[in-house]
Amino acid sequence: LKILKIGGSVITEKKKNVFNVARLDKIREICEVIARNRENLILVHGVGSFGHPYVEKYKLKERKDVYGVAETHIACKKLNEVICETLLDLGVPVLPIHPLTFKFDFEFLKEMIDEGFLLVFHGDMVYNKGRFEVISGDEIVVKLADNLNVSRIGFATDVDGILIDGKVSEKFDKSMLKFISLAVGKSDVTGGMRGKLEKIFNIKRRCDVFVFKGTAENIERFLRGERVGTKVIL
Ligand SMILES: Nc1ncnc2c1ncn2[C@@H]1O[C@H](COP(=O)(O)OP(=O)(O)O)[C@@H](O)[C@H]1O
Ligand SMILES: [Mg+2]
Repeated sequence: LKILKIGGSVITEKKKNVFNVARLDKIREICEVIARNRENLILVHGVGSFGHPYVEKYKLKERKDVYGVAETHIACKKLNEVICETLLDLGVPVLPIHPLTFKFDFEFLKEMIDEGFLLVFHGDMVYNKGRFEVISGDEIVVKLADNLNVSRIGFATDVDGILIDGKVSEKFDKSMLKFISLAVGKSDVTGGMRGKLEKIFNIKRRCDVFVFKGTAENIERFLRGERVGTKVIL
């Protein structure tokens, strides 16, 4: 199996205090590529301006606010629905999975994959031991990679790869983490590239992992098994 994670920064307008702005042309373009190359694929997407600004508005990382959780969750689902409707329109049998209301049942997921569905996960809020927490698309990828037979993972984002001194690094390993700072100027409650990489290094399985710019062309290359952007060495 392979996982493609599409960053919220690719499919939404992700600036401070911007709510619910989807890049519909971009979504259509990417979905067309996915529709043509969907064998053995699981899709995960971030929620960008459909998620982060709500978490900030309701301060969901600091306090419990069930109404805020509800509003955030509905917004995440809205973006997921846009993507799923687009894929459906292109003939893809999609199965949207909403982390807040789905207890990760990997047997069920395997069965649905075998039935021919393209699973589509999204960043969301989850309930964990009496608390509501943010689950990023990146964290969902780690969960899936550790529990399903995944061998290749692509993180499509809004930069050409992992940058060190402004240049795209061809390879990246854990010892290079110290060069990566947190995202600034964006609404991001999950730590930008730094948060993403910390999560990636939690993956226990040996996988080929790539971080690259989420253009339709790059995504197609990733799905066809080519090398794109930065290769992360686990
Ligand atoms: N060294 C770095 N290399 C690449 N991106 C970086 C780096 N340091 C910070 N960033 C920021 O991380 C952002 C990507 O993370 P994020 O916005 O969370 O993307 P996504 O929406 O794909 O999860 C980049 O747009 C950039 O602003
Ligand atoms: Mg992110």
